Amino acid sequence: MSYLSTIDFTEDREFVDRFQRAMCGDLDLGWMAVEREQVRCRPQNERRGLTFRDLVVGSYGFTEMPELIRRNRSFAPRGAAMPEGLPDLQADVNRKSEVWAYNVEGYYEEAMSRQWNATTDIPWRELADAQLPEEIGKAYAQLLTFLTEVEMIATDVPCKWMGRLNADFFEVKNFIATQAMDEARHAEIFRKRALSTGFGLMRASAHNEFNLKFLRDADSFAEASLALHLQAEGMVLTLFRFSEYISPTEADKKLFRLVMQDEARHVGYGMQHLKWVIDHFPERREAIHHHLDEAENFVFGAGYATEVLEPFIILAGKGLRKENIQQGVRITQAFQLKQSDEYFERLAKCGLPERRERSRLWKFVELNRQAIAA
Ligand SMILES: [Fe+2]
Ligand SMILES: [Fe+2]
Repeated sequence: MSYLSTIDFTEDREFVDRFQRAMCGDLDLGWMAVEREQVRCRPQNERRGLTFRDLVVGSYGFTEMPELIRRNRSFAPRGAAMPEGLPDLQADVNRKSEVWAYNVEGYYEEAMSRQWNATTDIPWRELADAQLPEEIGKAYAQLLTFLTEVEMIATDVPCKWMGRLNADFFEVKNFIATQAMDEARHAEIFRKRALSTGFGLMRASAHNEFNLKFLRDADSFAEASLALHLQAEGMVLTLFRFSEYISPTEADKKLFRLVMQDEARHVGYGMQHLKWVIDHFPERREAIHHHLDEAENFVFGAGYATEVLEPFIILAGKGLRKENIQQGVRITQAFQLKQSDEYFERLAKCGLPERRERSRLWKFVELNRQAIAA
């Protein structure tokens, strides 16, 4: 039985009395007498409209927010007066350093102004009429099956954390809400494309799904963000660029460009978060390396599943003949090296240039590079 179900409000004389007096016109007005910081926020840029950045003023802003939020554990919006007796929501994430990022207030605004529509922004009829050769069509449908799996987990992870963040981090919560929506749209567009190829969804992959499950099971938001925003989505961003390159029609290339625009924003948040943490808490550097060790292990410990690697080779080589496959392998190898290079470049930009030297993944990549060159 819940606490509330044990209370009979009709027995609460004070509440009933107050309600009846208000309905007779005798108002309490205690809420109106509360001392507040009065503000009148205006758009700094008329064309852009009123943004979250325009609301960063005084107690409503975040510039004086402490590292550990003890003040508010309720739904009280940041800056509101908080009377006694608000509920404790038992948020799991109350430390600013777990979630904060440079420009955090800008990511939500960007997401809202750059929404697109998977139902109408793609020429579906034209795509449905495009006849793909069987091996290309099947390889592409298999890639789309994998991408649908990826996007489903990418939707679940931000949703899992959204309600666990302290309400004072509303800029981050709102951004994460847009991320969940973006990822849902990605799952939508890949499913729609798979079902319009003439081949349908192909095979789910246990190998892929165990890798993806790692993202969902992270113990803290900081770890989840490193593994998701920075590592997995960074890898996916390079993968989308590669998929744009190898995709069979112009409309498919457009599809990947739309998805990439969202993915770049998610990676942007991950990078600006890591940079912010390294700048403000340099003592966290070792813990970050430790998280990256774990997260990288699931990438290079697992590599690409057959259900992804082979479609890449067939699509990149444009067929199943021997010379196609040789060409496809060469292009796919170059893509994989680029994927790792870009990952380490991102970390260097965030303030972790030593990651290359410390990473087993980098050693593995270098061995691969030498083997290819030999
Ligand atoms: Fe996505
Ligand atoms: Fe994403």
